[in-house]
Amino acid sequence: MYLENTAEILTQYLSLEKEQILQLLERPKYTNYGDVSFPCFTLAKELRKSPLIIAKELSERIQHPYFREVRNEGGYVNIYLQPGLIYNETILDVMSKQEKYGSSTVGEGKTVVIDFSSPNIAKPFSMGHLRSTVIGNSLGLLYEKNGYSTTKINYIGDWGTQFGKLMAAYEWWGNDEAIKEDPIRELLRLYVDFHEEAKEDPTLNDKGREWFKRLEDGDEKASKLWKWFRDLSLVEFNRIYDLLGVSFDYIQGESFYNDKMGKVVDELKEQKLLEESEGAHVVSLGDEMPPCLILKSDGATLYATRDLASVLYRKKEYKFDSAIYVVGQEQTLHFKQVKSVIKKMGYDWCEQFLHIPFGLILKDGKKMSTRKGKVVLLNEVLKEAISIARKNIEVKNPTLMNKEVTAEQVGVGAVLFHDLKHHRIHDFEFSLEDMLAFEGETGPYLQYTFARIQSLLEKGKFTFSKEVIPSDESDQLEVTKLIARFPLIVEKACEDHDPSLLARFLLDLAKEFNSYYHAVKIIDQSSFQTARLQFTYAVGVVLKEGLRLLGIGAPKRM
Ligand code: ARG
Repeated sequence: MYLENTAEILTQYLSLEKEQILQLLERPKYTNYGDVSFPCFTLAKELRKSPLIIAKELSERIQHPYFREVRNEGGYVNIYLQPGLIYNETILDVMSKQEKYGSSTVGEGKTVVIDFSSPNIAKPFSMGHLRSTVIGNSLGLLYEKNGYSTTKINYIGDWGTQFGKLMAAYEWWGNDEAIKEDPIRELLRLYVDFHEEAKEDPTLNDKGREWFKRLEDGDEKASKLWKWFRDLSLVEFNRIYDLLGVSFDYIQGESFYNDKMGKVVDELKEQKLLEESEGAHVVSLGDEMPPCLILKSDGATLYATRDLASVLYRKKEYKFDSAIYVVGQEQTLHFKQVKSVIKKMGYDWCEQFLHIPFGLILKDGKKMSTRKGKVVLLNEVLKEAISIARKNIEVKNPTLMNKEVTAEQVGVGAVLFHDLKHHRIHDFEFSLEDMLAFEGETGPYLQYTFARIQSLLEKGKFTFSKEVIPSDESDQLEVTKLIARFPLIVEKACEDHDPSLLARFLLDLAKEFNSYYHAVKIIDQSSFQTARLQFTYAVGVVLKEGLRLLGIGAPKRM
């Protein structure tokens, strides 16, 4: 709010549009440099004056009741705001909108399809899939907060030659009891064993191919096995989704497109885009990229064929304004190829097809691999996190009600936040210890801050009123400015597909609020107590809503 107002006021002094000014406004590095800075460097050329002189002249001219003081510091115009005005407008905004605070209508009437999570059947839900799930879920919430409607799709990996291998392995070494006991672990064991054995005896691979062919031909036994593996996996995945509070509009896996690829291949043929290359059928994509493989020499379809079918289906069915694919950056080439093929097919909406890549979670600096069995199972990480949270509660608050629910919210929050605070593109090292640290820059730290706020409100007998209770304390200014930035952060995090912006913002807000809390006695029976409680309440609203947008719960007590 204050940034917009400031930009609006500055239009009277500059020959720039409000939006341009808004883009230029900066947050000063030090608080004694004011509340907002306007850099004059870009004006120098047009005005044929040094930035220093421009800044000096501007600061002498600018006058407005909204500003307490305007001073230049080098080429910057530093503006000191009227704390009372900022305070009133910000708190009023939060109090009147509550959890709707920060919502916008920029996306009204637009639909975004989000392809995320998308784990593979009969394999563990890896930490890599966790990233897609957590980032995709948060992006969905951010889009909705900005007024978009979303269609959330889980494109599970439920088709491909690996199922042939799994079936072959099952036929030789499968044990139904063990599978029922711990399906994914057992199926993974079969898969890993298959690869070990196939190293010694490559003819095993032929057997795998045979089984997959049976599956493709609709053979009853193969289909039954496939369905069984799929159902077992979904039960386990759903357990994780429940725990994470993640849901989908559709589970449309790769197999969903089995009967939809023929049409795409025909279309490619008709348009004369398919070329033969060493028996396979490909679409050439020029010098920049290797050709996109559409059909293998035996006529089998590929990952790219299915993704082509999926995007065309989604466009037709959901009429998206954009379709985002939250998938690791190791698949960048794949998505580039698919996009180029859509473009070649003449679909002018190809720019609406967006790959949102993210980095790896490393183990000892290396990528985790399912095949070697060297994966960290998300299930176990979550269990561990919840158990540590439970122990913490036993120590700190043994009489807490709903201990189990709280332990889940805190443990899961720790894991989620640890992921979301890193910019998605950065690789980061998997460290159970870091993830579960309940102090420092963590989810539980934010949750603690929220719970502390709730107990303050209770202790001070806070009662809600929309009207802003006057407060003349400039101690609150730093926190207030952060609160006022929340709507911008929500918009930018969505636009940049970057939940870490919001995660970092929440850390700043919590830190700033906690230093206020340590500096000022909020409940002191003075005439400011009600105003301070209202202010505290507003911080709580923003923290809770911010956490919600990251997919993290905020328990009232912990
Ligand atoms: N199942 C794939 C994997 O684990 C990810 C699928 C991503 N979505 C897509 N439409 N390709 O690598």
